[in-house]
Amino acid sequence: MPHDFMPGLAGIPAAKSAVSDVDGERGVLEYRGIRVEELCQRSSYLETAYLLLFGHLPTQQALTAWEQDIVRHRRLKYSIIDLMKCLPEQGHPMDALQAAVAALGMFYPGRNVKDLENNYWSAVRLIAKLPTIVAAWARLRRGDEAIPPRDELGFSENFFYMLTETAPHPLWVDIFDDCLILHAEHTMNASTFTGLVTASTLADPYTVVASSLGALKGPLHGGANEEVVEMLRRIGTADRAAAYVEEQLRNKRKLMGFGHRVYRVKDPRATILQSLSERLFKTCGSSQLFDVALHVERKAAELLGEKKVYPNVDFYSGIIYDKMGIDVDLFTPIFAIARVAGWLAHWLEQLTENKLFRPDQIYAGEHNRPYVPIDQR
Ligand SMILES: CC(C)(COP(=O)(O)OP(=O)(O)OC[C@H]1O[C@@H](n2cnc3c(N)ncnc32)[C@H](O)[C@@H]1OP(=O)(O)O)[C@@H](O)C(=O)NCCC(=O)NCCS
Repeated sequence: MPHDFMPGLAGIPAAKSAVSDVDGERGVLEYRGIRVEELCQRSSYLETAYLLLFGHLPTQQALTAWEQDIVRHRRLKYSIIDLMKCLPEQGHPMDALQAAVAALGMFYPGRNVKDLENNYWSAVRLIAKLPTIVAAWARLRRGDEAIPPRDELGFSENFFYMLTETAPHPLWVDIFDDCLILHAEHTMNASTFTGLVTASTLADPYTVVASSLGALKGPLHGGANEEVVEMLRRIGTADRAAAYVEEQLRNKRKLMGFGHRVYRVKDPRATILQSLSERLFKTCGSSQLFDVALHVERKAAELLGEKKVYPNVDFYSGIIYDKMGIDVDLFTPIFAIARVAGWLAHWLEQLTENKLFRPDQIYAGEHNRPYVPIDQR
C-alpha cells in the first residue's frame, strides 16, 4: 500500500476516464480525443456536450433530437423562481445557483441512478436549466421579473435573451458559445473530483452537481475569473501593469489567472480566448482591460516563465464577458453552465463501474491521551 502523502493529491490518478485528456507539456486539450481548437471552429456547445456525455459526435438526427430535448426542459417551475426570490439579493450568484440546483433534486423524483433513462433526463434538465437559473437570478436580484426562455433561440442566444430581453450581436453569440465549449470539461479538476466523490455514494445527479458547484466557487478554481477582472481594474492602465506584477511577486502574492497544476506552457484555452477577445474588440471596439491584460502577461512571462507559470483559462474569459456587459459575479456561474456537461459525463462514466471513494490518511496525532475532567483543564 502506498504511504507517501501527496498534498492536493497532485499526480495521483483518481479515475480511469475516456472523457478528456490534457497534455500539460505540449498544451493540448482533447474532449473524447478531439482537440478543443477544432471543436471551437466546427462544433457548438450543445453538440460538444453530447460528445462529452455519450462519447461520440451525434448524427444530424441525434443532434436535432438532443437540441429539442434541451429546449423542452429549459423552463423553471414557479416554485424554483419563488425560492430564489426568498434569497438575499446581495448574495453571490453561485450560492443562489447551488441552492436552486439542490432544490431541483426535490422536484424531480426517481433518483435511482441505476435507471439509465432517468439519468438521461436528469442530464438534459441540468444542462437545460442552469442558464435559466443564472439569468433568472441576475434579474430577480434587481427586482426585475425573470424572463422565460424562447424556444426558437439557440442555447447561447437564449441565455443572452433571458439576461437582457434583447437579441445579442451574432458575433457575441458565436464567441460566447466558444467560451462554453472551452469551459465544458477539463479532466480531474477540483469540482469534477468533488462531484465524483458525491456520486460514488450513488447520490442523485442534482446533489452531485450541487457539490461540484460548491467546489467551483472558490478563487483557486472557477472563482479566479472574477478576481482577474478585479485585478485588471485595480491596475487601471497598461503603463501600470509591469510595476503591479513586480510588486505582487515581490510580496509573494499570486497573479490571478496564472498558473496551473497540469500545464507547463500557456493553457491552450487561454490562447483561444485571447484570439476570441481580439475578434470581439475588432468588431465592438477595444477594451482597456485587454490592453492591461496584454501588458500583465508580457511582464509575467519575463518573471514567471522560469517557473512555467503562464495564463490559464480564467485570464481572458472575464475580459470577454465584461465587454459583453455581463456582471463580474456571473462569470463563475457561466463557467458552471458550461462545466455541468463535463461533470455529468464523468458521473455517467463512473456509474458504469462505481466504487465508493474512501481514501486513506496518514494519522499525525497522538494516541492514548488521558481524558482530563473539565474542572482540571
Ligand atoms: C492554479 C494554482 C492553484 C496551481 O497551483 P499549484 O499547482 O499548487 O502550484 P503552486 O501554487 O505550488 O505553484 C508553483 C510555483 O509557481 C508559483 N505560482 C503558481 N501560480 C502562480 C501565480 N498565479 N502567480 C504567481 N506565482 C505563481 C508559486 O508561487 C510557486 O512558486 P515557488 O515554487 O517559488 O513557491 C496556482 O497556480 C494559483 O493559485 N493560481 C492563481 C489562481 C488561478 O488562476 N486559478 C485558476 C486555475 S485554472
